[in-house]
Amino acid sequence: MQLTYLGHSCFLLETSGKKLVFDPFIRPNELAANIRFEELQADYILVSHGHEDHTADLLDLANITKAKVIASWEIQVWLNKHGVTNTHPMNIGGKWRFDDILIHMVFAAHSSSLADGSYAGIAAGFVIETADKCLYYAGDTALHTDMKLLADKFNLTAALLPIGDNFTMGYEDACKAASFIGCDNIIAMHFDTFGYIKVPHDDAQAHFNKHGKTLTIPAIGSTITI
Ligand code: NI
Ligand code: MN
Repeated sequence: MQLTYLGHSCFLLETSGKKLVFDPFIRPNELAANIRFEELQADYILVSHGHEDHTADLLDLANITKAKVIASWEIQVWLNKHGVTNTHPMNIGGKWRFDDILIHMVFAAHSSSLADGSYAGIAAGFVIETADKCLYYAGDTALHTDMKLLADKFNLTAALLPIGDNFTMGYEDACKAASFIGCDNIIAMHFDTFGYIKVPHDDAQAHFNKHGKTLTIPAIGSTITI
């Protein structure tokens, strides 16, 4: 798996010959000014919830790439209404195979609505399973005990967790989440984009190290091999 950070909670995951983009929010993100939005390619776009900092570029990216959008039923209805019809609705607890990739939609403790006020279903995360890797994308979420189910069900290779606090869990709870999910290889997201979620990187990484875990805080545009 190759994972490229596009800023905030947006990643490009390349695996099993496919390109998956999570929560497209690039052009409104000043920190991601070096990402060339128009050149992005995707086979699938995964949407964790409706908030603007996860969907601002969704309609345009779907139109440019012709990717299939995987999202809650309610977000699918909204997409269809806006002319994006290559969609696949899911809800939490469900799984579906897309090519050689098995995608599970899992619980997130967060709210969800779209920029125009439309109800967007409930917020979610995803588990991405391939032949030899398993990645958890938590979306926006608080720490919650259902994360312990992921340790039972999956052997996670790595996990993308929000660390920005205020709107989601902060890095201390993300470290506890790493214990809940049984995964010591954590990649940070949802940090630094706005004033409310600025994170002292050294403190966050030291906290993880103290608990025997690794927190990778990716630079925007950088690619990580999982
Ligand atoms: Ni949110
Ligand atoms: Mn958010």
